[in-house]
Amino acid sequence: MTTPASLAHADTNDLEAFFMPFTSQRQFKKAPRLLTGAEGVHYITRDGRKILDGSAGLWCVNAGHGRKEIAEAIKAQADHMDYAPSFQMGHPGAFELASRIGNLAPEGLDTVFFANSGSEAVDTALKIALAYHRARGEAQRTRFVGRERGYHGIGFGGMSVGGIKANRKMFGLMLPGVDHLPHTSDLNRNAFSRGLPDHGAELADALERICELHDPSTIAGVIVEPVAGSTGVLPPPKGYLKRLRDICDTHGILLIFDEVITGFGRVGAAFASEAFGVTPDMMTIAKGLTNGAAPSSAVVMGRAIYDSFMTGPEWAIELAHGYTYSAHPLAVAAGLATLDIYRDEQLFQRSADLAPKFENLLHSMADAPNVIDVRNIGLMGAVELSSRPGEPGKRGFDVFLECFAQGLYLRATGDVLAMSPPLIVKESEMEEMISILKKAITKVG
Ligand SMILES: Cc1ncc(COP(=O)(O)O)c(C=O)c1O
Repeated sequence: MTTPASLAHADTNDLEAFFMPFTSQRQFKKAPRLLTGAEGVHYITRDGRKILDGSAGLWCVNAGHGRKEIAEAIKAQADHMDYAPSFQMGHPGAFELASRIGNLAPEGLDTVFFANSGSEAVDTALKIALAYHRARGEAQRTRFVGRERGYHGIGFGGMSVGGIKANRKMFGLMLPGVDHLPHTSDLNRNAFSRGLPDHGAELADALERICELHDPSTIAGVIVEPVAGSTGVLPPPKGYLKRLRDICDTHGILLIFDEVITGFGRVGAAFASEAFGVTPDMMTIAKGLTNGAAPSSAVVMGRAIYDSFMTGPEWAIELAHGYTYSAHPLAVAAGLATLDIYRDEQLFQRSADLAPKFENLLHSMADAPNVIDVRNIGLMGAVELSSRPGEPGKRGFDVFLECFAQGLYLRATGDVLAMSPPLIVKESEMEEMISILKKAITKVG
């Protein structure tokens, strides 16, 4: 693998200018972890070490790194037409990508609005929900319901419906009119579950209580991740999502699945909604859409939502929303090439086929020191460690550092170590990942 000269020789003496996202700046800048190359399921560090990518970047490089087809598609598009606006103009690839996403999505979800990040997709979905109800004469539906331990990005909308204290506490009042369902983590009843936990469907009934409190006709939408990813891989209890669906149907509330992580094969089907047999009214997607090779995201919705806006004069703009880079040609080229790879290599099926092996490997960690839970679904999994007294998150961070030292990159979220390898991972590579993680957990203690 060749490393571009600009990266190999980047001056890294001064790391101060970059205020890094979600990073322990001071710790990082004392001992930087710099990546300069990537191929297959490996990163290469600046000092030439090969690191297994246990997290597909940030849950996005589902087809593995260094996919020539995607790089070539981006280059061909850049050579041909670098940029085209999507406001009152269009380019053919955008329509093709939208159709292909619609074909992959569960039946009935066939209309696509493009944004650039998961956060933007979430805020777009919330805005569409509000505008949809208003267009139908239900402008009083302005409330949203999210869930504790939900992550929906860092825009004001996503942060508000999200349920992570650290992501909220510094940032003021947020969107008004947002309630949260209880999270579904229940180690007393469900620790070491394989796949969907048996207990907790009744937690969805909290939505009925919220409806009771506010009057359901004031609620625009409910948004949840089908599997909470960023707070440590929480697969939904059996029957839980169906109950949410039923309650939303009863009260005319839109159900939004945030499939930014779970989309594109992560749980062994194109989308979690397909894997779990529950179809939302809208879903947000990002990450695997372009294999992480260019920023792109989207909201996928049913035709009825789109149609609700198609009133008024034809020359008028129906939805005053969009981004300069919505359906950016380079991202669209990356998306089309990525969907080709998923199809040609049957990667969603591969994810389903590898899942039992991944499950067994993860659960072999159950007797490692301080492990209090192991969870998995598809090719997502997590090992939860007990917290050191007074230092929540420190043990997880130490394991993350030790893994990196031993050749594995994964995500630590608090004291949970989360893994989501690229779907092209080989069984032997999964074994290697788990073996490093086990050694690291044991060493850190
Ligand atoms: C479920 C979910 N929604 C939204 C986001 C935000 O995506 P982005 O970081 O692209 O804004 C993420 C990111 O991890 C996510 O996991």
